Amino acid sequence: MNRLLNWLDERFPLKSTLKNYFSAYYLPKNLNFFYFFGSLALVVLLNQFVSGLWLTMFYTPSAEQAFSSVEYIMRDVNFGWLFRYLHSTGASAFFIVIYLHMFRGLLYGSYQKPRELVWLLGMFLYVLLLAGAFFGYLLPWGQMSYWGAEVITSLLSAIPYIGKSLVVWLRGDYTVGNATLQRFFALHVIAFPFLLFLLVYLHVVALHKVGSNNPEGIDIKNEVDANGKPIDKIPFHPYYIIKDLVMVVAFLILFFAVVFFAPEMGGYFLEHNNFAPANPLITPDHIAPMWYMSPFYAILRAIPDKLMGVMCMGMAIVVLFFLPWLDRSPVRSMRYKGNYSRMMLFLGVGAFILLGYLGTIPVTPTRLFMARVSTGLYFAYFLLMPFYTRFESTHILPARIGGQ
Ligand code: HEM
Repeated sequence: MNRLLNWLDERFPLKSTLKNYFSAYYLPKNLNFFYFFGSLALVVLLNQFVSGLWLTMFYTPSAEQAFSSVEYIMRDVNFGWLFRYLHSTGASAFFIVIYLHMFRGLLYGSYQKPRELVWLLGMFLYVLLLAGAFFGYLLPWGQMSYWGAEVITSLLSAIPYIGKSLVVWLRGDYTVGNATLQRFFALHVIAFPFLLFLLVYLHVVALHKVGSNNPEGIDIKNEVDANGKPIDKIPFHPYYIIKDLVMVVAFLILFFAVVFFAPEMGGYFLEHNNFAPANPLITPDHIAPMWYMSPFYAILRAIPDKLMGVMCMGMAIVVLFFLPWLDRSPVRSMRYKGNYSRMMLFLGVGAFILLGYLGTIPVTPTRLFMARVSTGLYFAYFLLMPFYTRFESTHILPARIGGQ
């Protein structure tokens, strides 16, 4: 074994990479619960890749056969139901993990200098995940797949002059049809995983260059003890690997409980309307996107003008890219920021969650009013940030972890 490793190492930087990324990669010693979600995102990514590969072996990407091929996977293919539920539950799990991963960033100011690029690459990943999930959702060719794609692609028609041609170009037809299904399939199974793996790689390499932030949000000093070991850092291997593994097991127990006992999750992970085949002649009474896109859909519905609605929906995502430059606070972590930052984070995140709920249910005048207030609060969190972060008083930072 050793000889084989040495043979490999003479031709490929194996040992140095392992050392660089694991045994000699030092991380702050105080990383908490919120730091699990990066590794969990990698686990879910792997699950999506493997279950997706299996589904692709039995799925037929044509408008005539897509729906029945999914039924065939569910009923006739050995363990087909398991792979489908792993993939559909995996999609929702991906977003739960990613939203918590992003929330950690907001909580501890992980997007601030010098981690702007890590954040930006993360944001590209988020947009890619949304697009990938949207393409994938059309594939079962159910009622919601069809009408969801119809509604979202038709949004582009709000763009002046070129909008209508753009919609036809995107769909490959005048309505969502076979051509749309085939291109969404190609994008979902080839372009999306390729770009995802590439961006994840860049995200992790960029993080490795600047090092992880930590719940205190302070720069960890490189002070070493008598043995030459950093005093406020511990190596990734074995300490965080073991800690992450425990969390991965806990996560998998929860994940499989959902896969085996509640894969539809009351219609949140698999929508009931999608168990009926796509029918271009019957519009469902209530068209709602999956829960992870619904905050943006609620913003779209809250604005009376179509073009303005589409622009605000887009801005709700774009504004997140600018976070590293909107935050002017001298400190990173919420532990040391002032009360305004804490209150605005609470309101901004609360508004996003409420919008998410409102986006999944039909509109009434009261709900419309709530969606408008929440949209205002969501944008206020970001757009007022340069002011409240600069003028509020912050707490004094400790020199080292543990307050010394
Ligand atoms: C497929 C999606 C993603 C994967 C696999 C992934 C993976 C990781 C991993 C393994 C880490 C190091 C461990 C940790 O700090 O949790 C990390 C850190 C980080 N990620 Fe992601 N990530 C993804 C998406 C995102 C998104 C959408 C954002 C934000 C927009 C983001 C922002 C960050 C930031 C700012 C850090 C550094 C945090 C710190 O040091 O405090 N990531 N990511």
